[in-house]
Amino acid sequence: MLELSHISKTFNPGTANERKALVDLSLKVPDFDFISIIGSNGAGKSSVFNAIAGSFFTDSGSILLDGEDITLQPEYVRARNIGRLFQDPMRGSAPGMTIEENLSLAASAGRKSWFSHISKKDREAFRERLSLLGMGLEDRMQQPVGLLSGGQRQALTLMMATFHPPKLLLLDEHTAALDPATADKVLALTKEIVETNHLTCLMVTHNMQTALDLGNRTLMMDHGRIIYDVRGDERSKLTVNDLLVLFRKAVGKNLDNDRMMLG
Ligand SMILES: Nc1ncnc2c1ncn2[C@@H]1O[C@H](COP(=O)(O)OP(=O)(O)O)[C@@H](O)[C@H]1O
Ligand SMILES: [Mg+2]
Repeated sequence: MLELSHISKTFNPGTANERKALVDLSLKVPDFDFISIIGSNGAGKSSVFNAIAGSFFTDSGSILLDGEDITLQPEYVRARNIGRLFQDPMRGSAPGMTIEENLSLAASAGRKSWFSHISKKDREAFRERLSLLGMGLEDRMQQPVGLLSGGQRQALTLMMATFHPPKLLLLDEHTAALDPATADKVLALTKEIVETNHLTCLMVTHNMQTALDLGNRTLMMDHGRIIYDVRGDERSKLTVNDLLVLFRKAVGKNLDNDRMMLG
């Protein structure tokens, strides 16, 4: 269970550049929730993730993960329990290292010896996992990751981030930079990995249909707040158009996201 209680974050307070990124935001995420998050540019979606992951400390409020107060825990410590993917496929894996070296790094994360030696057994385990991606990467394990396409790299990063299932997986528009067919593939993979590992997952998406198709709950954000939180029967009946209408009613203007996709 992740519990955000009244977290706020203001950048450059008291200056002309003041930005209220998070405003008294509270959220409870029970284990196994898979939540999609939508909102206009600058709504505070990435800021929520930054607060959870510890990329910055909030000005006020508290953050609990499985009962542990992590409000002031440094980012690298939280990273042991929190997996995170970004929009940019270049983040999250090391381009100069081979696929198997990257996987070895993920496999040994938080452990004493990192990629001192890749055993035959490791290699077989990596090969087996890679074949699940259906991208032929199991036959390219000794190639540097820098040679992979964006989609292949994002799939690999997803696998690395969940090699040891994290308590929480944060996906920040992780398919926005991919072409539609590749994005679909990575999304299908996301769904499968979240389901088979019983992960608790928060996913920001620019794709309104994806927000409804994946997961069990959807949040709408605006101006650093959660303005709508839907699950269950009410959610299963929603269409993309309903989402847009709900947003307009709540905010008084149209949902506006640079990369927004309606279908
Ligand atoms: N490091 C930062 N410094 C200053 N302002 C920031 C910073 N990060 C985010 N903001 C501001 O906070 C608000 C929310 O940003 P963000 O969380 O990135 O929105 P979203 O991910 O929903 O597009 C925006 O107004 C943004 O300009
Ligand atoms: Mg963002």
